Amino acid sequence: MKERENFGSRMAVIMAFAGSAIGLGNIWRFPYLVGQDGGAAFVIIYVIATLAISLPIFFAESVVGRRTGANCRGAFIELGKGTAWPYLGFLMVFTPLWIVSYYSVVGGWSLEYLVQALRLDFIHTSPEAMSGSFERFISRTWAPLGFHLAFLAVTVAIVALGVKSGIEKFSKFCLPVLFALVVIIAVYSLTLPGAQKGVAYLFKPDFSKLTIGTCLDALGQSFYSLSLGMGIIITYSSYVSKKENLMVSGAGTAVSDMLFAILAGVAIMPAVFAAGIEPGCGPGLIFDTLPYIFAQMGLQMPWISSIAAILFFLTILFAALTSSISLIEVGVAYLTEERGFKRGWACVFLFVVTGVLGGLCSLSFGPLADVTVFGMGFFDLFDTVASNVLLTVGGLLVVLFVGWKMPKADVFDELTNGGTKRRNVRLFNFFYFLIRYVAPVGVAILILSNLL
Ligand code: PFF
Repeated sequence: MKERENFGSRMAVIMAFAGSAIGLGNIWRFPYLVGQDGGAAFVIIYVIATLAISLPIFFAESVVGRRTGANCRGAFIELGKGTAWPYLGFLMVFTPLWIVSYYSVVGGWSLEYLVQALRLDFIHTSPEAMSGSFERFISRTWAPLGFHLAFLAVTVAIVALGVKSGIEKFSKFCLPVLFALVVIIAVYSLTLPGAQKGVAYLFKPDFSKLTIGTCLDALGQSFYSLSLGMGIIITYSSYVSKKENLMVSGAGTAVSDMLFAILAGVAIMPAVFAAGIEPGCGPGLIFDTLPYIFAQMGLQMPWISSIAAILFFLTILFAALTSSISLIEVGVAYLTEERGFKRGWACVFLFVVTGVLGGLCSLSFGPLADVTVFGMGFFDLFDTVASNVLLTVGGLLVVLFVGWKMPKADVFDELTNGGTKRRNVRLFNFFYFLIRYVAPVGVAILILSNLL
């Protein structure tokens, strides 16, 4: 059998995990949820949910991946022989492909906005003309479709290069650039007039704004943001060497993911307040309002505004790419290891499938706007089914599998490297308790609330 590739170093592991975690979820979804769900109190619940529920699920998935060193279908075949658990492997392969289909549509929007920023469109358009331009763009037929396919093509090209030369290299290059870019934008944003309001909104909690709904949103967001419940952590962990400390790489990923989301909030919220925009305006928050802000800024400082716009959309694009490669890699690992595909052909095949599915999502804002399934257009359908059903059900089943089906000794062995990591040994029972009881109950409540 062909020898499997592994990530080259601890840094590479954290960079790849964090690259997958840090994505549109942090820059696009987190700020608008913070805006909708009441600011700082939501942020606090999000941090608690990440540490108490999502991180244990992350550990559970990495145990499955590293224990077997296999793709997610192969992993469950190996660990759940003679039971129905291997079917979970199918769900885990299917979910990321479903997600990448619409994720790459949003990735395509960021590519299009980057092109606009490079053409200096934002400073050549009046702020009034800019408002509503997002709606106009996504309702066109060919341009959004073309950008979706271009984004997807770049994604599969990186994945086709392989785990070390593609995924690892790209993540190692992108993540530091991403952090630097978002820090620059955050610092700039803090100098805008009225920025304090945005900062207070993010960091001064008003717990009277919390409802059960906002707490569940916070849990859902931490789940989405850490790329849980869809085989990514299993697949990436299968490339992690036996010497690696899974608790350290998991905690490192969770902390950098939260830090990045909060930094993105600092970059965006002050700008939103400075421009007098309603923070609770929903998913269009960054795409609809930031070009307006750049155009407004461009009236006085055209060069600074142009550079800020380019940096901003470049940040979104890189973040989206490091995540979309992880979404595609799950399918590639399955096709190459279980179905005998060559890596290149697996990439081509997945490009075609997700290109077509994503095409439907892209067109659902334009020519296919009237086609609905369960009352939703394709894009909304893909997003709703993914976030409300596929991710959460997948996450619940994995954590139940690791907490209740796998022998405790095996879980201990993976999380403590055979008992050799003393700090992990001390923490093990605490995390095992979270895996067995707290995480399943938390996710089950989330699933029920989504379905009701
Ligand atoms: N965790 C990544 C993000 O926050 O953008 C990737 C991702 C995970 C995308 C789950 C979509 C998703 F449903």
